[in-house]
Amino acid sequence: MHAIIHGIKMTYTDVGRGAPLLFVHGFPLSRGAWRKQISVFKKTHRCVAPDLRGLGASATPGGTITMAHMAEDLAALIAHLNAGPVTLIAHSMGGYVALAFARQFPKLLRGLVLVGTRAGADTPEAAQKRRETAEKVKIDGVKIVIDAMAPKMLSTINDDKAMHKQIRALMAPSSRDGVIGGLLGMAERADREAEMRKIRVPTLIITGSDDALVPPAESEKMAEAIKRSTLAIIPQAGHLVAFEKPREFNDALKDWLDNV
Ligand code: MLT
Repeated sequence: MHAIIHGIKMTYTDVGRGAPLLFVHGFPLSRGAWRKQISVFKKTHRCVAPDLRGLGASATPGGTITMAHMAEDLAALIAHLNAGPVTLIAHSMGGYVALAFARQFPKLLRGLVLVGTRAGADTPEAAQKRRETAEKVKIDGVKIVIDAMAPKMLSTINDDKAMHKQIRALMAPSSRDGVIGGLLGMAERADREAEMRKIRVPTLIITGSDDALVPPAESEKMAEAIKRSTLAIIPQAGHLVAFEKPREFNDALKDWLDNV
């Protein structure tokens, strides 16, 4: 399905009925990263999953894509679908967007699920590296980012070739402008560590024990700071924990949803 959000074509999935769950993917992924959740939770919930600006099948006008832009897109999509307030389930860069959303649109938020993400900003070195990568993408295309990131999405002990291939396929449609814009947006994102104590909605924090991109310690730090939070560490899972260990992930999510 498509909607024109802020003048830009946004592609999304909207299936099931019940309390709304809004699934927000990471970088440079697309909404299919949540398909192993949506196939299960659509039986009990309304599941909405957009492709973020410039990624998957959603368009971008070009330029830096800030976390605020993407949070505003989500709020506009919720209004378009009359789906709020939502439980926002967000992975990695999606988590950065979710924390911007929690600050900008608290009334649209019923609960938060933060997956493989962090509250802090990039270090100056990490931000500089992203800007350099963005320059390289201008010349060499998105493949260099996919080649660098796809192998890091799963636990290092996971040699499931089909799953590795599926992850590349989730990244493949991302546009050059979307990848450049996302890199520049992440590089300039705000540090939200101090805001963690202000989050009042029930929050589930999930990480893979073997996450090589965002260390599980980041999840532990958020769990200490967010008052009404629960932490689930899924063993033998990497960064894309929901895709790699869907049964364990879905059990943790279901338990939490049943009890909040
Ligand atoms: C993601 O999966 O969204 C990225 O690893 C986030 C990042 O690069 O900080």
